[in-house]
Amino acid sequence: MHGTLDFGIKNKVAIVAGGGAFSKDIGNGRAASILLAEAGAKVIVADRNEELANNTVQMIKDRGGEAIGVGGDLTKSDQCKKVVDLALNSWGRLDILDNNIGIASKLSVVDELEEDWDKIMKVNLKPMFLMSKYAIPAMINTGEGGSIVNISSISATRPKGLTSYSASKGAVLSLSQAMAVDHGANGIRVNCILPGPVYTPMVYTSGMTDKHRSQRQNASLIQVEGDGWDIGKAVVYLSSNWARYITGHLMVVDGGCSLSAKPRG
Ligand SMILES: NC(=O)c1ccc[n+]([C@@H]2O[C@H](COP(=O)([O-])OP(=O)(O)OC[C@H]3O[C@@H](n4cnc5c(N)ncnc54)[C@H](O)[C@@H]3O)[C@@H](O)[C@H]2O)c1
Repeated sequence: MHGTLDFGIKNKVAIVAGGGAFSKDIGNGRAASILLAEAGAKVIVADRNEELANNTVQMIKDRGGEAIGVGGDLTKSDQCKKVVDLALNSWGRLDILDNNIGIASKLSVVDELEEDWDKIMKVNLKPMFLMSKYAIPAMINTGEGGSIVNISSISATRPKGLTSYSASKGAVLSLSQAMAVDHGANGIRVNCILPGPVYTPMVYTSGMTDKHRSQRQNASLIQVEGDGWDIGKAVVYLSSNWARYITGHLMVVDGGCSLSAKPRG
C-alpha cells in the first residue's frame, strides 16, 4: 500500500533537542515536536530552558498528544545521557532524534571574540555529538534502526557573513554524512536539513525589522516567507517510513533562497 498516510511514526519515541521556544511562538524545534506528536510519536522535549520545553509539552497535550519536558544544558554529557535515559525509562525505546540546537553569530573572524567562536562551536556541534552518542546505542537496541535529523543552515554552503555560525553549520553537514556511513549497517538513517531564513524566535528576538523580513521573503524564488512549521514538516518526513531509502541526505528547505541573487536580509 503506497497511498497510505501512515508515516510509520505512530508509537515511536522521539527526542527533540532544543524543542523549546519563547511563549507560544513557533521555532523549528517546537514545530517538529508538535508535528511528531501529531503523527503519533511520544516526544521528549529537551531544552536548556525547562519552562520553554514545558510550554511545548503543553501545546502537544492541548492537541491530544503525549510528551515530557526536560531541562538541561545539552553541551554537557551527563545532561544528554539524562535525556536519553528519560526516554528509555518512560517509554522503553528510542527511534527518532531531532538535533535542533543552534545559536547565531554576526561577525567576521577579525571582529569575532575568541570566546564567542568557542561558544558557537560548542553550542552548535557538541549537543549533536553527545545526543547521538547516547541515542544511537538505544536505537540499535530496538532492533528496528532509527532516524536522526541534524539541523544545519543554508549558511553552511551560501554564507553571507555570520562567519562562525556558517563554519559550525558546515561541520554539521560532514558530521551528518559521517554518522550516516558509520551507522547505516544498523538501520540508522542520518539526514541533515539546511533551513533558509525562516521566521522563528531566534531571528525576531535578534532585532529583525519589517524591512529585513520582506527582504527575506523576496529572496525566496517563490516569495514565500518560511517558518518553523516548514522545517518541522521536513523533520517528520525524514523521520518517517516514507524516507526509508534516504540517508546521508542534505535537504535544503529554503523556498529557493540559496539559488536567488537577492539579499536575504
Ligand atoms: N531561524 C532561522 O532562520 C534558521 C535558519 C537556518 C537554520 N536554523 C537553525 O534551526 C535551529 C533552530 O532554530 P530556531 O530559529 O528555531 O531557534 P530557537 O532559538 O527558537 O530554538 C533553539 C532552542 O535551542 C535551545 N538551546 C540553545 N542552547 C542550548 C543548550 N546548550 N542546551 C539545550 N538547549 C539549548 C534554546 O533554548 C532554544 O529553545 C538552529 O540550529 C538554527 O541554527 C534557523
